[in-house]
Amino acid sequence: MTLSITPHAATIHPAIRLPRLIAHRGLSARAPENTLSAVRAAQAAHCRWVELDVQLLGDGTPVIWHDATVKRCSDGRARLADLDLPRARRLDVGGWFGDEFRGERIATLSEMLALVDALGLGLNLELKVNRGRSAAALVEEAVPAALDALPPERLIVSSFNDEALACARDQAPAARLALGVLFEGIPDGWRQRCEALDAFSVHADWTRLSRRGAMSISEAGYPLICYTANDPAAFSHQWAWGVASVISDDPARFAGHLPAGE
Ligand code: G3P
Ligand code: MG
Repeated sequence: MTLSITPHAATIHPAIRLPRLIAHRGLSARAPENTLSAVRAAQAAHCRWVELDVQLLGDGTPVIWHDATVKRCSDGRARLADLDLPRARRLDVGGWFGDEFRGERIATLSEMLALVDALGLGLNLELKVNRGRSAAALVEEAVPAALDALPPERLIVSSFNDEALACARDQAPAARLALGVLFEGIPDGWRQRCEALDAFSVHADWTRLSRRGAMSISEAGYPLICYTANDPAAFSHQWAWGVASVISDDPARFAGHLPAGE
């Protein structure tokens, strides 16, 4: 039996040219994650796209940050929801990673979008809805700003959160805004979820991916983006499952480990 292939992505987003490797949280192996320095480092390392997380401070300012608190990646301890911008700006978000990054400040979404655009990078902006936070409020702040800053061929907005993705789709049609649906394991109903959102791409945890799941996604025409792979040898057989791109903390490790001929 031959499987029919729907040219889904090529049809709705002719201009997006995904690279094989996307730098996770910027080049987070070499610079503090989700900072301006991490994005500059990604560009210096010849990455064409970066993945970054966005969420809101307590005062509603969208910032580039992954965790619900600032403990792990700054010299503070607060919950993000308890910070306003002046307090968040006093944090040192680089020193935890290395002395050369001491003095780095949390990036607002607007600063980051300006940098991404100036560097000519593509952005996979992950709407990070941590426990107890409003998906709708995040989308309302973050998505219009991203749409204003970047052209359709250099932007994917992704999330694990259904409500965030649905609200994002309400902001712009598929031809203007590529949505990426994040999954841990691929559920049986993955395709219905993607169709309901008019999604562009499927983003999957590579450690939980089966050949069958991967092939069903790639054969349906959705670019399959795997996160977060840092071991190119362990990943090597997965390229053949139709994987479009890998999100990695350190894309340079994959040199010499891409599909044959690349
Ligand atoms: O967007 C892919 C990946 O970043 C999802 O997981 O926790 O690193 O944001 P996390
Ligand atoms: Mg992320």
